[in-house]
Amino acid sequence: MTQDELKKAAACAALDYIVDGSIVGVGTGSTVNHFIDALAGVRTRIRGAVSSSEASSRRLAAHGIEVFDLNGIESLPVYVDGADEIDGSFAMIKGGGGALTREKIVAAVSERFICICDASKRVDVLGRFPLPVEVIPMACSHVSRELRRLGGEPRLREGLVTDNGNLILDVHGLQITDPVATETRINQIVGVVTNGLFAERGADVLLLAGAGGVERLLAH
Ligand code: 5RP
Repeated sequence: MTQDELKKAAACAALDYIVDGSIVGVGTGSTVNHFIDALAGVRTRIRGAVSSSEASSRRLAAHGIEVFDLNGIESLPVYVDGADEIDGSFAMIKGGGGALTREKIVAAVSERFICICDASKRVDVLGRFPLPVEVIPMACSHVSRELRRLGGEPRLREGLVTDNGNLILDVHGLQITDPVATETRINQIVGVVTNGLFAERGADVLLLAGAGGVERLLAH
């Protein structure tokens, strides 16, 4: 199977976790695009979706799935999203698509985070994938200096402005052995909106697609 076929298999497995009559939290990325397409096939079972990016909102709307404003929602039983890396504690690096801040907000509201991945995303130690950090534009140089002090090598993601009007620094060279501590430390830098470590609120379920099928793994 190709990597894209594995992404699709993980995405389709997530349909089993949808709560009938509910609003579904929807992430961003190529794996989630498969999930949105699969969700269209069962759209009469759900009220609609809350989306983590303009791109996902457009795709949902194109399928006739109503997109709700998160501020009008009191509870979200399930959030489905991909990851760039996920470790054994289900802490993740996210933000390869630049949607990390809205993803983190929707994840925070949801009761259950279902992570959908192909097997290449599973790692022992986070950090080979550069850690995305969303930054207020005027703070870019300051935040870069602070990230270097922490041992990282930040590089501005050229040509990208986030849905929130900010910039992304991709931080190379970090070996993240304590994801909660690193997430907290980087978020304390003035000018950082948030970083792509999802450790404080990691995944609850991992649907990991490999050659042998989709493994359904629960957080400890
Ligand atoms: C977007 C994300 C994505 O979940 C992550 O980049 C994985 O993307 P893909 O499913 O395309 O591999 O965090 O901001």
